Amino acid sequence: MGRIEYKTDQQLHWMAQAGVVTSRALDAAVQAAKAGVSTAELDVVFRNVLKEHNATSNFLGYYDYPATICTSVNDEVVHGIPGDRVLASGDMISIDGGAIVVDPYGKKWNGDSARTSLIGEVSQERRELSEVTRTAMWHGIAAMATARKVGEIGLAIENFVRSETGDKYGIIEDFVGHGIGTQMHMAPEVLNYAARDLGPRLKKGMALAIEPMLVTGGIGTRTLADEWTIVTADGGDACQWEHSVALHSEGIWVLTAEDGGAEELSKLGVTVKPIPA
Ligand code: MF3
Ligand code: CO
Repeated sequence: MGRIEYKTDQQLHWMAQAGVVTSRALDAAVQAAKAGVSTAELDVVFRNVLKEHNATSNFLGYYDYPATICTSVNDEVVHGIPGDRVLASGDMISIDGGAIVVDPYGKKWNGDSARTSLIGEVSQERRELSEVTRTAMWHGIAAMATARKVGEIGLAIENFVRSETGDKYGIIEDFVGHGIGTQMHMAPEVLNYAARDLGPRLKKGMALAIEPMLVTGGIGTRTLADEWTIVTADGGDACQWEHSVALHSEGIWVLTAEDGGAEELSKLGVTVKPIPA
C-alpha cells in the first residue's frame, strides 16, 4: 500500500478544507434522502455542492467508478452505485462521499466520510444498528487522541461494540479504513476490529479514515453483478459511518466534521485541538 504520508499542519489545513466541503455535501445529500427520492438524485445533490465549492470528486472515475457518492441501502454494506432505486419508508441508507481541494502548490487533498440516514418510519432494530455503528466510530476516533498504535483504533471500536451489545452485531473485516491525504486510499490500513498486530505507531502528521461497518448477521460479503455493490452474504442489514481524522502537532481534529468532532468527542472525554495556524 506504500508509505505513510506525514502532513505538516499547513497541509492539514488544506485537508480540512476538503473535509468541510465533504461534510457540507453530505449534509445536503442526507437532507435530500427521503421516501420517493432516487439514489441518483442524491448523487446530483452531492455533486452540485462540490461544484459550488470549486471542489472535485475523488470517487468519480476511481477505478472507473461512475458516481460521486456510494449509496448502500439495507443489506448493502458499501459501494452501492446511485441509480434508479427509489428510497422507501423503512430503508436505511449509508451515503459515502468525498471531495478534493487543490492547494496553491498543486497538491490535491482528499476528504472521505460516510453517514447513515434512516428513511421515514424505520424499525427499532435499524435505528439501533445505525446508532451503535455511529457511536463505535466515535470511540475509534477518540482512541486516536491517546493511542500509541493504529490498531488501538479497531480495538476501541470492537471493545465498545462488545461491551455495549455483546455478540449481537458482526464487524465487517473484508473492508477497512485507510490513511488519506494526497490520495483517498493510502497506507496504513485501519482495521475496525481488534487484531493481534497493532500495526504502525501513530505519529503527528497522520490522517486516517475510520469507517466501521456493522451487520446484524454474519460478516461474510459478496459482490453484485455490477462489480461494485457489496452486500451481506446472508442478507442481514449493514451500516457504515466514516470520518477522516488528522493527528496534528497539538492533538486530533476530525477533518470531515465542521466542529472538528468537538461535540461528540467531548461526550467521550476527549478535547479536540484546532490545527495550529
Ligand atoms: N470512500 C470509500 C472508502 O471509504 C471508497 C469508495 S471507492 C469508490 O474508502 F470508487 F467507490 F469511490
Ligand atoms: Co474511506
